[in-house]
Amino acid sequence: METVVSGIRSTGKLHLGNYFGALSNFVKMQDEYNCYFFIADLHSLTTHPTPQDLKHTVRNVVVEYLAAGIDPEKSTIYVQSDVPEVAELYLYMNMNAYLGELERSTSFKDKIRSNPNNVNAGLLTYPVLMACDILIHHGTKVPVGKDQEQHLEMTRTFANRFNHLYNVDYFKEAFAFSYSDKLVKVPGLSGQGKMGKSNGEADCIYLSDKPEVIRKKIMRAVSDSGPTEPNQAKPESIQNLFDLMKVVSSDDTISHFEELYNKCEIRYGDFKKQLAEDMVIATEPVRSRIEAIEQDDAYIQKVLRLGAEKAEASARKTIKEVRKIIGLKRLY
Ligand code: ADP
Ligand code: TRP
Repeated sequence: METVVSGIRSTGKLHLGNYFGALSNFVKMQDEYNCYFFIADLHSLTTHPTPQDLKHTVRNVVVEYLAAGIDPEKSTIYVQSDVPEVAELYLYMNMNAYLGELERSTSFKDKIRSNPNNVNAGLLTYPVLMACDILIHHGTKVPVGKDQEQHLEMTRTFANRFNHLYNVDYFKEAFAFSYSDKLVKVPGLSGQGKMGKSNGEADCIYLSDKPEVIRKKIMRAVSDSGPTEPNQAKPESIQNLFDLMKVVSSDDTISHFEELYNKCEIRYGDFKKQLAEDMVIATEPVRSRIEAIEQDDAYIQKVLRLGAEKAEASARKTIKEVRKIIGLKRLY
């Protein structure tokens, strides 16, 4: 059976982009594959969270994984830092990751542009740690959104380079995976680009947002004054709202509003109201489970203890084999 590995950084609450881009695929995959899903707390250290914030956000993500339907009996759910073997593999893999290729990574370039005062080495080697998360369990399928594709290409490069350097056929190639034919990109509410927490609170609908908050955010989403000519091309902000509708509404609803748009009869107030209601309905099951699981400390602890044990057993085996391949052998 093929192995699936994926993680989400523990930088706060999960939004609809995380859900439809990653989490909903995690849930489906657990019935078909051997799955490892983790909370990437080590990756989140690049932005220097306080210890309290870190603890809080890790717990949030665990709760939201479980609320979304990841079943700890079927999948291994764990916190990245509970498996320190990954940090050891990261050290080895850093030795053959080259400065030039790391500097060329789009996510690194984005980060230095948005945060010029915190260009740390962890940010530069972020793709190496991500590769190690996958390689430590010999993952071949990685459910992620479109923005992570380049990281997977780098993961394949590092795996192949290791194999070549030591003349082994040890690490496998991993590929991005999605059940839909294209990797999903959920747009944000601010009128441009993908939904992302770095674009601010108003850009994101969070899985834990209450219905009234969802309604308010949608009604305030950026739009324009409406089409003036039949079948006019949609500006990005309007296309984004239609794309969001494709994620949560029925085909009939979408074609109804497409038609109104094309006839210049669309009223954005009605359009947004419908979008908000469909979004409230689509997120309801997850939201109510978040509220229940959040209270259950004993359950969360049990899940993470079991997950850490399973993930560590797999990681320990890999590290033992990697040390042997590299030639690290105790002389006593
Ligand atoms: P953010 O962009 O809010 O910082 P992350 O980078 O932590 O979110 O993303 C976690 C996972 O969710 C990744 O697999 C990523 O590809 C996916 N993801 C994030 N935002 C979106 C989006 N708007 N559309 C589709 N997938 C997304
Ligand atoms: N880089 C991913 C993100 O920003 C999170 C991540 C870390 C990850 N390690 C991973 C995803 C391993 C898949 C596999 O969302």
